[in-house]
Amino acid sequence: MDVSKARELARRLLEEPLPRRWAHSQGVAARAESLAPILGDDAGLVQCAAWLHDIGYAPQIADTGFHPLDGARYLRDTIHADRRLCDLVAHHSCALIEAEERSLQRELASEFAVEDEALVQALIYCDMTTTPHGEQTTTEERIKEILSRYGPDHVVTRSITRAAPTLTSASHAVAARLAHARAAKR
Ligand SMILES: [Fe+2]
Repeated sequence: MDVSKARELARRLLEEPLPRRWAHSQGVAARAESLAPILGDDAGLVQCAAWLHDIGYAPQIADTGFHPLDGARYLRDTIHADRRLCDLVAHHSCALIEAEERSLQRELASEFAVEDEALVQALIYCDMTTTPHGEQTTTEERIKEILSRYGPDHVVTRSITRAAPTLTSASHAVAARLAHARAAKR
C-alpha cells in the first residue's frame, strides 16, 4: 500500500466519527515522515503503519474492542494489505501486553508476527511522542497523559504501566538514532 492510500483510508475511517483520533494519526504520520533518514527502504511502510495504527477504534471496524487486533484484522481481511503492515498495526506500542490483560494474547500472537525491532521501535517513537491532539510531546508526558486519561484500574492503565519501560527505552533509542543520522549529515 502506498502512503497516500493509507492516509485516505485512515481519513475515511476516522475523520468524521473520531476527529481526535484523526488528529492524533496525522501527528503520528508526520513523526513517521521525519524518520525517513533512519528507515531506508522501510520508511514508506512505517508511514503507512503510522496513518493506520489506530483505525481499529473506528466504529465501522471495532469488533473485539481491542483496537490493534481489530485494525490489523480489517487491514488483512478487508483491505488485503501487506502482511508486514498488518503485523506492525497489530503489535503497535506493546499491544501484546494489553492483549494479555484482555485475554486476547493468543489471537494476537498467532495471527500476527512481531516485525523487525527497528520498525516496531520507530512506530513506538511516533505514537509515544504525539499527543492525542496530534502535537509533539515527550514520551514521559505522553505516558503520564494516558495514565491520567484512563484513571486507576483501567485495563489501558495497567497495560501502559507494564509497557512504560519498553516504550520509553524504544522511543529514546529511535530519537538517538535520528539525532545521530542528522549529525552525520551536517
Ligand atoms: Fe493505538
